[in-house]
Amino acid sequence: MKFFIDTANIDEIKEASSMGILDGVTTNPSLVAKEGKNFKELLEEIVKVVDGPISAEVVSTDYEGMLKEAEELAAIHPNIVIKIPLIPEGIKVVKTLSGKNIKTNVTLCFSASQAILAAKAGATYISPFVGRLDDISHSGMDLIEQIVQIYNNYGYQTQVLVASIRHPLHLVESAMMGADVATIPFSVIQKLFSHPLTDIGLEKFLNDWKKQNKK
Ligand code: G3P
Repeated sequence: MKFFIDTANIDEIKEASSMGILDGVTTNPSLVAKEGKNFKELLEEIVKVVDGPISAEVVSTDYEGMLKEAEELAAIHPNIVIKIPLIPEGIKVVKTLSGKNIKTNVTLCFSASQAILAAKAGATYISPFVGRLDDISHSGMDLIEQIVQIYNNYGYQTQVLVASIRHPLHLVESAMMGADVATIPFSVIQKLFSHPLTDIGLEKFLNDWKKQNKK
């Protein structure tokens, strides 16, 4: 399973990258806006830190506008993946970009039928948002299970990128279902390490060691 970090914060990206577990980065307009930096300059910074797919989202909603933005963003670096919203015009852009060998990440996916459309258009990644579904009393993980099964049934090459992850169980369940990628906020990456028995065990090992070495 590939691990992407879901952030536009360069310090978080550097820290996760230094752990040696990072395969890529996803951003979205809200995350980029939070950083208050020029988008293209920020992307140029990110590609220097992580040698893997970096998702950059378009903000137009018409075919021509999205295509223009996509081509400009793709020109920044070969690792840039164009994030496109799951709307009819967006799916047309995905089809066009797939014909030009430009990688795409179809975002704001909340149903299996939407995921089928993205696969048929030749998307590189589909991003179902599990946390936002849970927020409205729908099961985000049920959607992942459906998409993984459908894509396996037909051998679709589109990779399932689980997004809107809120806690470690989202990641564990995604891995059990065979999702290809999880994009994880930095705070959740930190939580993946946590176990009270690890802390208690380490404290005891170190205390026992100190006692013996004082003698
Ligand atoms: O980047 C897309 C997605 O991961 C956003 O997550 O937490 O805003 O629902 P969230």
